[in-house]
Amino acid sequence: MSIILAFETSCDETAVAVYDTQKGVLANPCFSQIALHAHFGGVIPEIASRSHVEKIGVVLQEALTAADTTLEMVDAIAVTTHPGLPSALLVGTCYAKAIAWALHKPIIGVNHLEGHIFSAFLEQNVPFPHLCLTASGGHTALYLVTDFGRYELVAHTVDDAAGEAFDKVSQMIGLGYPGGPIIEQYAAEAHFVDFFQYPRASIHDINFSFSGLKTAVLYDAVKRNLYNLETKKRTDLLDKAMQQKIASSLLVCMRDIFMRKLADACARYPSIQAITFVGGVASNTYLKQAIAAFAATRKLAFYSPSRQFCTDNASMIAFVGAYKARRQEFDQYDLDIRYL
Ligand code: KG4
Ligand code: ZN
Repeated sequence: MSIILAFETSCDETAVAVYDTQKGVLANPCFSQIALHAHFGGVIPEIASRSHVEKIGVVLQEALTAADTTLEMVDAIAVTTHPGLPSALLVGTCYAKAIAWALHKPIIGVNHLEGHIFSAFLEQNVPFPHLCLTASGGHTALYLVTDFGRYELVAHTVDDAAGEAFDKVSQMIGLGYPGGPIIEQYAAEAHFVDFFQYPRASIHDINFSFSGLKTAVLYDAVKRNLYNLETKKRTDLLDKAMQQKIASSLLVCMRDIFMRKLADACARYPSIQAITFVGGVASNTYLKQAIAAFAATRKLAFYSPSRQFCTDNASMIAFVGAYKARRQEFDQYDLDIRYL
């Protein structure tokens, strides 16, 4: 049995976790900076890193108390080193290294995306090989996952991420940041009807592209006199009912894009046993249910983490740290962030 302490500060969440390799997650506190960035419609790196500096000690203390653990009881320390905002990653990485060095604990640098890829394992055992759809504010990709730490990229976004599409459209139609949760709520209020039939992914390879979708929503709104391109402002016609219709059409379109890419990937890898859906966008119940139904029709198991492990969290970093520790894959104390 061993205890992994993990830090995650790659973007706008200051997260710390205490993970027991036998009992699972003992503590998973997280300070979300959403309120600090909402006014700007996106994450401001300088504000993010300052807030991480302020909060990381507080969140660490919260984690240790909740897990009834001391730093001395920790066997290894894991930390996200990439990808992410460099100034934000630096806070967690320096903090984790300082503790590891002072207490002579091994340190493990973790890829944030690898954390998301294995996040479904925090609550369930997923069979290999499986397909993992990772969708967040910064990334959207499909992976073929063959073992712990062994995965290959099947498809990636060539421009915006899925979450970014929600965030940008939400901002444009006046629903604020982050867009995902409010788009989901408004779409539900419009009963997930595809009012405006935005174009589905038009690129012909398996990769994702969402910047065209975002632009299509914008030009459709201009065409309907809902948005003025010159003043970059919404018109009075863009009322709540319209916001609901746009949200609903966008979410249905996103569902169809995901379905098509999953169908392509399933055809390419017939040996897969399951599909996982992870990352912040996987908090979306409508998308989750659609992918679960898709998996069921293909007799594949489906796994997706609960909301706390979909959005950025340190437990997923601890989980990767745990299997790396088991394989003695430790880093040196001069571990640095990576600019990927
Ligand atoms: O994984 P995450 O917390 O951070 C990144 O690594 O980016 O994902 C944040 C993203 C945001 O773009 C947010 O709008 C989206 O996840 N998101 C959602 C939902 N909740 C959060 N997207 C769709 N539906 C949701 N319910
Ligand atoms: Zn993430």
